[in-house]
Amino acid sequence: MWIRGFLALFLFLASVDAQHLFLAGGGLTAESYFFWNRLILFAGGRGQAKIGVITAARDDPEEASKELKTILMNHGARQVTWIPVSGSLEDSANNETVAAMIMKQSAIFIDDGDVHRLIRVLRNADGTDTIVLAALREKFQRGVISGNGAGSAALSGTPLPVSGHSYETLVHGTKAYTEPAPGRRGGANRRFAGCSYLTSGLGFLRSWLIEPHFNEHSLHGRTIRLLLDTRGAVDSFGLGIDREMAIAIYRVGSEQEYAEVLGNKGGISIINTTKANFATSPKLHISGVQITFLTEDDKILLGTAEEVLPATWKADLAGEEWHILATPSEDIFSADKDGTKGNFNRVAKRLFDSQLSKKVSSVTWQSSPQFLVDMDSRSGESFHNDSPSNSQHLISYARLSVSISQIA
Ligand SMILES: *[C@@H]1O[C@H](CO)[C@@H](O)[C@H](O)[C@H]1NC(C)=O
Ligand SMILES: *[C@@H]1O[C@H](CO)[C@@H](O)[C@H](O)[C@H]1NC(C)=O
Repeated sequence: MWIRGFLALFLFLASVDAQHLFLAGGGLTAESYFFWNRLILFAGGRGQAKIGVITAARDDPEEASKELKTILMNHGARQVTWIPVSGSLEDSANNETVAAMIMKQSAIFIDDGDVHRLIRVLRNADGTDTIVLAALREKFQRGVISGNGAGSAALSGTPLPVSGHSYETLVHGTKAYTEPAPGRRGGANRRFAGCSYLTSGLGFLRSWLIEPHFNEHSLHGRTIRLLLDTRGAVDSFGLGIDREMAIAIYRVGSEQEYAEVLGNKGGISIINTTKANFATSPKLHISGVQITFLTEDDKILLGTAEEVLPATWKADLAGEEWHILATPSEDIFSADKDGTKGNFNRVAKRLFDSQLSKKVSSVTWQSSPQFLVDMDSRSGESFHNDSPSNSQHLISYARLSVSISQIA
């Protein structure tokens, strides 16, 4: 019964008007079954799927496409076609032949690399769509668009960061990137230590800033500051995706839209700054940021990220906490090169996994200025269990409240 219901749901989702986005956070390998299998399934199934690969973010686009072709064929694609767009092929994104190749695929996969290079290829210098980008938008109406790393980030519907770490962005703020005059190097942009951003991504996921390699690069501070600096009439949210993790968003923009977390190596972070308080003077102070972290098999309605449906195999963590107290970090954004990665999320998970602590205060490793990062779990909830796919203990949480204040 269960199996039949499951399959019926998949076939239904796969057949109705598509607009599915499968976004991976970087680091996909030939072994990333959680991603490739899902992509092939929704691209028509094994022996049917026709996948077009875009590798324009890479240094070596054509070589990269060969590697992807091998992977996708091994996972059951019927045909894998390199879409020959790249910075070194003159005006390749305004070539009708190339655009027509896109329309023949059942799904498109956009590979990792340099997000800025990718956007420069796919969008005309005046900001309008190239013919190839227009074809991608049309393909999306009835098909699947997928990406890995930079390929996912490019699909953001908000300002799109191209540089900056968390601490430096909190100190120096954010700045729109300006293209250097022809023949000049990007001097001013390069000297800016904060976060440079392009004024918009390609807009396949409206209102969402997609940040791959999220916990690996401890991007919480950067994402929060950029969302606040560019806060406008329309609410925008952050979607952090860890390496070797993905989010599948089915029927984007429709009433039936929902998202599902794929993979077991990390999670998906949702950063909600819509109700946050934000002041930059006399000292930086941010409060009321809500962070939700979801792991394998959790589902969510992105439009109202309040609605979290934890994986059926997870249990409420309240009452089953392993630790007595939370443990703060003295390097909350993992900036000490010799230190460990992912401190921010480790502190947050431990807070929910503690019986007595409801709040924990950490600091940045750098000083003058130094920032205090407060986490409060009282209005949140959390779920946990061992993953059925790799037996790792996974913790998901919703609505962690976060504040960041300059203290020295
Ligand atoms: C358009 O792309 C096709 C396929 O890559 C190529 O053979 C052709 O030369 C291109 N046309 C122009 C005008 O660049
Ligand atoms: C963001 O937070 C606000 C206020 O708590 C809530 O109403 C809204 O649904 C949240 N949106 C998302 C996408 O998390």
